[in-house]
Amino acid sequence: MTRTAIVTGGATGIGKATAARLRADGLDVVITGRRAELLAETARELGATPVAFDATDPAAITAALPALPPRVDVLVNNAGGNTDIGAPAPGDLVALRQSWLRNLEANLLGAVLVTTALLDRLAEQSRVITLGSIAARGGAAGYGAAKAAVETWNRELARTIGARGGTANVVSPGLTEPTEFFGGGLPEDRRAMLIEQTANGRAGTVDDIAAAIRFLASPEAGHITGQALPVNGGAA
Ligand SMILES: NC(=O)c1ccc[n+]([C@@H]2O[C@H](COP(=O)([O-])OP(=O)(O)OC[C@H]3O[C@@H](n4cnc5c(N)ncnc54)[C@H](OP(=O)(O)O)[C@@H]3O)[C@@H](O)[C@H]2O)c1
Repeated sequence: MTRTAIVTGGATGIGKATAARLRADGLDVVITGRRAELLAETARELGATPVAFDATDPAAITAALPALPPRVDVLVNNAGGNTDIGAPAPGDLVALRQSWLRNLEANLLGAVLVTTALLDRLAEQSRVITLGSIAARGGAAGYGAAKAAVETWNRELARTIGARGGTANVVSPGLTEPTEFFGGGLPEDRRAMLIEQTANGRAGTVDDIAAAIRFLASPEAGHITGQALPVNGGAA
């Protein structure tokens, strides 16, 4: 039977590369995102199915359910990003609260809500992979905290789906290119500093991350669960 996958945030960056890998492995792939036109364009390119919805909006998720596959073998919770990038530094407590809530919503709640909505559809031996970040180790304010919380939630999810042979893992990239993550672009000195921290002297590529996700999504990876896998060139 053909395995089915859903990749949230699949129109760009890591999500698009992951969807392409899973397609190459013969899976039926649904990609999601908020920008319907871009999503449709990427879906045509990859031979995937586009379903547009906001992963943080319970009503939008519920409305999208009829368009999503009735059996899900692979769920990649990739949608997210640092919502502070490009935003002014919070000037007061109200703005700080908003900044943290936006990051928690985009990176933690999106994954929790989408996974919970699809829990009954997860097949035996399902694979759930959620994007974490090197930022979970520290720094990046609400973004880092949200990605750390993803790891905590993932361990609980592993127990929930483990009884049916399912696995749940986090893939935690370091600097990865090319994506829309840094919006208008990463300043060259900051990029050089991040590369300097790696052991192999380079930025990650979207294909580096997609390759790790593809392995964890495979039937062979059935005894790896509840883990967070750094894919960051050995960044220290
Ligand atoms: N690039 C890096 O250096 C890096 C490092 C560590 C971790 N990560 C993580 O990797 C994941 C993918 O990021 P990326 O680097 O590939 O950046 P990206 O190109 O910006 O991809 C993020 C994707 O998620 C979608 N998305 C964002 N919020 C969404 C929402 N609420 N509902 C539905 N879709 C949403 C976006 O599409 P729409 O805007 O159309 O919705 C976009 O396609 C993220 O979780 C990010 O935190 C990236």
